[in-house]
Amino acid sequence: MMLDCARHFHSVDTIKRLINQLAYFKFNTFHWHLTDDEGWRLEIKALPELTRYGSQRGPNTRLAPQFSHIAERHEGYYRQEEVRDVIEYAAARGITVIPEIDIPGHCRAAIKALPDWLHDADDCSTYRSVQHYTDNVLSPALDGTYRFLDTVLNEVAELFPASWVHIGADEVPDGVWTDSPIYRDRRMSGETTASLQIYRDRRMNGETTASLQGQILTYAEQKLRALGKRMVGWEEVQHGDKVSKNTVIYSWQSEDAALHCAQHGFDVILTPGQATYLDMVQDYAATEPGLDWAGVTPLEKAYQYEPLASLASDDPAREHMLGVQCALWSELITNQDRLDYMVFPRLTAIAEAAWSHSERRDWLDYLARLKAQLPRLDKFGIQYRSPWASNK
Ligand code: ACM
Repeated sequence: MMLDCARHFHSVDTIKRLINQLAYFKFNTFHWHLTDDEGWRLEIKALPELTRYGSQRGPNTRLAPQFSHIAERHEGYYRQEEVRDVIEYAAARGITVIPEIDIPGHCRAAIKALPDWLHDADDCSTYRSVQHYTDNVLSPALDGTYRFLDTVLNEVAELFPASWVHIGADEVPDGVWTDSPIYRDRRMSGETTASLQIYRDRRMNGETTASLQGQILTYAEQKLRALGKRMVGWEEVQHGDKVSKNTVIYSWQSEDAALHCAQHGFDVILTPGQATYLDMVQDYAATEPGLDWAGVTPLEKAYQYEPLASLASDDPAREHMLGVQCALWSELITNQDRLDYMVFPRLTAIAEAAWSHSERRDWLDYLARLKAQLPRLDKFGIQYRSPWASNK
């Protein structure tokens, strides 16, 4: 499971409480989304500015208020000793913690925290991210970008024992970098004039953002490899055709992307928003909390998710399917009760979808077993959504 701790900060206690349940329901990986436009949540000892400025938003801070707490400051970050504590707690329960540092998009908090390194004043490109930011993408033209990556990834690799590091790579907006004179006029480290020429030619063919994104991500991949880590990223990580096939793809927009990547030799984690994004609303009622851009996901829909249903059981692409993940993005998750409500009991349905063969799947049988689980969740004080209220 992935938990977004950037949009709203979640305490170490909340994370441990969740990890405890993940272990009970046989999840084996906790993907910790630590950085985003609206917050940088991981202490980096060599760059204290990242948390000094990037972990707080609100009045009189560098990051504008967002989502909630408009008149107050919203803040929080994890000290490295707290991260070690979470990793140890998870490991004792059979769970690996994979950190995510989201680049090159979703970097507004980092850019505002480290403008001397990360703000490219000569870049006149105009763009708007899906979340409407006009200033949230790292620049491939700046030395500071690569210094930032080196410094952050060194500490991340040292801190997290997991062999994978998630590098994000999602939602880089169209239009970014297309009017960046500094990029055009300089040689990137390791890039020849010829490859810059290729860049210009591609740009004329309308192919811009993806190949530049690929350049930053290839740099990150090589850095991570040197640190003994495998790079993993959201499905856009392979846009631009630059990263190696060793990169693991987390397909979130559709099953088609997963299929495409697997057929091209990438290993894949399935996390389709339509079935596994726990921030999606659970019912059609207007009062129901949650987002709906990927659809409405009642418990039954989460349970009935059939990973790669269209793929023959002996299709060799299946060998590239490493697992299934669910995710909670936290734009609307302002407190523990809301987190519980979005996660439970859908978490149990996804666990079963991920681990059981489709012929063993039985909705009514699941409901009967779920009924027996509820007193246990009650004992932990988990404020789950009643499975019966909306089952007509
Ligand atoms: C994503 O939902 N942007 C990975």
